[in-house]
Amino acid sequence: MSELHRPTYAPHLPPVLAGLNRAGSVGKTTFGENIAAQAALRGYRVLCVDADNQGDLSFWNGYETYTPDGTTTVHDVMIGQAALADAIVPGRTRINPDEHETPFQNIPGLDLVLGSKAMEQADSELAEDPFGVFWLQNALAEGIKEDEYDLIYIDCPASMGRLSISLILAATNIVVCMKPALKEIRGSAAITDKIDEIRASYGRRHNASAEASYYWINEARKTKFQGQFYLDVQDDAVEAYGAKMLPPLGQVGQIAEAYAAQEPLAIYNPRLPAVGVFNTMLDRFGFPEKK
Ligand SMILES: Nc1ncnc2c1ncn2[C@@H]1O[C@H](COP(=O)(O)OP(=O)(O)O)[C@@H](O)[C@H]1O
Ligand SMILES: [Mg+2]
Repeated sequence: MSELHRPTYAPHLPPVLAGLNRAGSVGKTTFGENIAAQAALRGYRVLCVDADNQGDLSFWNGYETYTPDGTTTVHDVMIGQAALADAIVPGRTRINPDEHETPFQNIPGLDLVLGSKAMEQADSELAEDPFGVFWLQNALAEGIKEDEYDLIYIDCPASMGRLSISLILAATNIVVCMKPALKEIRGSAAITDKIDEIRASYGRRHNASAEASYYWINEARKTKFQGQFYLDVQDDAVEAYGAKMLPPLGQVGQIAEAYAAQEPLAIYNPRLPAVGVFNTMLDRFGFPEKK
């Protein structure tokens, strides 16, 4: 049984997960890329939405952030210039360019709504229309058919403007991503309040149902030699969030390498313990290995 829920604004859709924190570099994209890719490798159908103007999720899926002019992206969907389907491309992994004609290979089951640098202007563009914040709710509700995907993941920017509100409105279950430092932990409390506030103010009329369902510490420290302060902060988070905590991930040098190689961890090095950590999360989300 999945712990995740379907959107109340469009019950035909699968659960919509989003990694969030107003702080940058906490591991939101690392979480999303690897959860999505490993769910696809387990045989589930996953759609990722790269809503961050940095386009890291698109890069990790084998695409460049600065797409050629005329390429349909998430930005075209947001401003109503394109249908969602036109911005969807296959999720990919790099393969040895010397041995193959094309350096990338599709990952079956993994799709991506291509990101764009133009999302930099999203906050002001969304302010021009009072219903602008519902763009992603509408695009998913109208653009995705029943039973087309098992999971949707939204990669969010590190900010709390109208774009992030629009992403929270489209999400069902939010993973608050943190590092074991005071700034990010404080950010996690602020995010929790924001999500509750959005549900309270948009919920009844606009079916906003996102919850801060999980809290995840990335780059967790294990011993006091790595800093007693970090351990104390981690303990505080466990005390505050209890059963909502996901298994922590330690510092893993190969994450940066896998990103540069444009391969998900499970393909870059399937034996990494980090791959097991993400698979444990998938079990909990309701996407176990298929028999
Ligand atoms: N567990 C980890 N150990 C080491 N480096 C990590 C880990 N998680 C993420 N990183 C690195 O930290 C940086 C930020 O991660 P990213 O997932 O892009 O964060 P965000 O999306 O929140 O900005 C990236 O360079 C990434 O490779
Ligand atoms: Mg990111």
